[in-house]
Amino acid sequence: MTDWVYACAASDIDQEDLIRWDYHGKSYAIYNTERGFFATDGMCTHEAQHLEDGLVTGMVIECPLHQGRFDILTGKALSAPVCVDLQTYPVKVEAGRIYVKI
Ligand code: FES
Repeated sequence: MTDWVYACAASDIDQEDLIRWDYHGKSYAIYNTERGFFATDGMCTHEAQHLEDGLVTGMVIECPLHQGRFDILTGKALSAPVCVDLQTYPVKVEAGRIYVKI
């Protein structure tokens, strides 16, 4: 069963940036992009590297370890060495509060 879970305030995430959010033993990445807020798994699918220090450019997150890139909206792996997509999660913003459906 999935449910909406409060993650953080929208103001906690700078424009064109992301934060790490840990919940029930799992780690997520929440992004503030030119197209709104999005969430994906926090760990890169290549190796055990969190994306929190990665670079957000438009709708792309670049992993800080080997510069693999993912589409933030779809989770699709865009460039080597990553070849497995990131899982994505629905996000909603209500009264300046970000909720993730997990
Ligand atoms: S750990 Fe992310 S690209 Fe290698």
